[in-house]
Amino acid sequence: MILSSKWRALAFLGVAMLAPLFSAAQKPPARAATCDVCHGPNGNSVLKDIPSIAGQPKVFIENQLVLIREGMRDIPQMKGVLHNAADSEMKGTLDNVPDSELTELAHHYASIKIAKPPSQKQTDLYNKGEKLSKEMRCGVCHLPTFVGRDQMPRLAGQREDYMLYTMRAMKANQVVGRDPNMITSLYGIADEDLKAISHYLSRLSN
Ligand code: HEC
Ligand code: HEC
Repeated sequence: MILSSKWRALAFLGVAMLAPLFSAAQKPPARAATCDVCHGPNGNSVLKDIPSIAGQPKVFIENQLVLIREGMRDIPQMKGVLHNAADSEMKGTLDNVPDSELTELAHHYASIKIAKPPSQKQTDLYNKGEKLSKEMRCGVCHLPTFVGRDQMPRLAGQREDYMLYTMRAMKANQVVGRDPNMITSLYGIADEDLKAISHYLSRLSN
């Protein structure tokens, strides 16, 4: 069908007016495809020891990306693992990525809902984790629903293996560039307790 030029102009105007309403929410930044290789479809991780980044507070993601880019939080997997298609040499995932793009990525992942957690749970372990996380007042920073806020990450629905892995590393003080307050809150905690807390938090769907 051939539209008259008047109709074409109107149709164009209509699309142009609608575009700002939809584009921001729907179109992921180009680089997100690279992130999803490790962090899973739409930032919901399906790989052991790799965190989901969907549904994290925007400020947390933004801060972490700057720390990772500057080499202040040391994540070997995120350094130099990626081929830039136009380039034959390995490039750091975030090398020279401007702040504006990190903000765009943070906005993108913060606006995605985290996937529903696995439904099966070990009741004893879950109850123990719930009790401990209340006693240890983890919710003071991560919020009582554990959805996180500002620079405090979401823990509800995060991968159990990742939380256990990262808390063990924090407890052993083997982490570079992580928040000292967080490390202090795990001081002296038993490994069995870390297991229970990770199990409990990973099953929360908030
Ligand atoms: C080659 C795999 C890989 C790629 C690609 C990758 N990441 Fe990561 N990322 C990881 C791993 C592994 C960790 C956690 C490591 C740790 O804590 O020891 C991580 C951690 C993070 C964290 C901190 C999350 C948290 O809960 O502590 C953020 C945010 C993040 N990545 C965002 C991104 C973004 C955005 C991209 C794309 C620009 C990206 N990553 C690409 C492997 C990857
Ligand atoms: C004083 C505030 C504070 C308290 C209390 C606190 N946290 Fe955190 N926690 C943080 C901050 C800030 C981070 C982000 C760390 C960073 O900068 O890398 C974090 C990170 C984490 C992470 C890593 C999540 C990720 O995606 O990388 C886990 C798991 C965690 N906290 C569990 C707990 C548990 C369990 C407790 C209670 C025993 C607790 N936190 C108490 C502030 C706190």
